[in-house]
Amino acid sequence: MSYAIDIQVQPEVKPFFDPQTHTFSYVVKDPFSKACAVIDSVLDLDYAAGRTATHHADTIATYIEQQQLSVDWIIETHVHADHLSAAPYLKARLGGKTGIGHRITQVQHTFADVFNEDEYFARDGRQFDHLFADGETYYVGDMACLALSTPGHTPACMAHVMGNAAFVGDTLFMPDAGSARADFPGGDAGELYDSIQKILDLPDEMRLFMCHDYAPGDRDFCYETTVAEEKRSNIHVGQGQTRASFIAMREARDATLGMPQLILPALQVNMRAGAMPTDASGRTMLKIPLNRL
Ligand SMILES: [Fe+2]
Repeated sequence: MSYAIDIQVQPEVKPFFDPQTHTFSYVVKDPFSKACAVIDSVLDLDYAAGRTATHHADTIATYIEQQQLSVDWIIETHVHADHLSAAPYLKARLGGKTGIGHRITQVQHTFADVFNEDEYFARDGRQFDHLFADGETYYVGDMACLALSTPGHTPACMAHVMGNAAFVGDTLFMPDAGSARADFPGGDAGELYDSIQKILDLPDEMRLFMCHDYAPGDRDFCYETTVAEEKRSNIHVGQGQTRASFIAMREARDATLGMPQLILPALQVNMRAGAMPTDASGRTMLKIPLNRL
């Protein structure tokens, strides 16, 4: 498949690292205007206390205000299982439209069952302002951007290509860390392999921005690489690893991984576009379904 990608367009990319969940959030600025997009923001959660805070989001918001940027989009690359989204907070403070991949509906159906949601929980993605279709072109200011469906880690995963920068979500990690897990409900190692090939088919000089990094081997945290570097040295898919051997490796490895610490709160909140669930009286309340994951 070929896409209208303009590698000459060079957006300014500002990373914001959340050390608690090892997540990189990004502010991506259109080089032609003051418009920007926020990708994968994080709401702080003290899980033991059931208390949220906006320290990470405030750092992002302050940067945007100081730079006098206008927010066009607040994007989730997928329904994260390891942190809560701060999208509603940032939208209320800065404006912009929230968006996620159109297969969010599948994720909502799956986890509506896990969390025994009632009929008031919509499963059609309406909690988000926009659902991106695969191959959809949209704009941050005057910069054309491309949404690419990259299922495998989760069904609704998308990579977002903005000029010479691609935000790959949980598909590839840095070359020395490989790839994201594919064992959550709705995940599929074969689909993940196919999605990764889609990313590796982008131009070699495309900058790739990670959603997570865990700094293996005590190196520093890293968030940026290129298509060429991933093809050359990614430990899971580099050097033309076959689909069958990737699936075998991924499934064997996933079987050894524990669930992310915040998966239960994160899914309940993120499948609502970051809104907090409430009980019958309207109080914000999270559920812990037993023996379902
Ligand atoms: Fe993820």
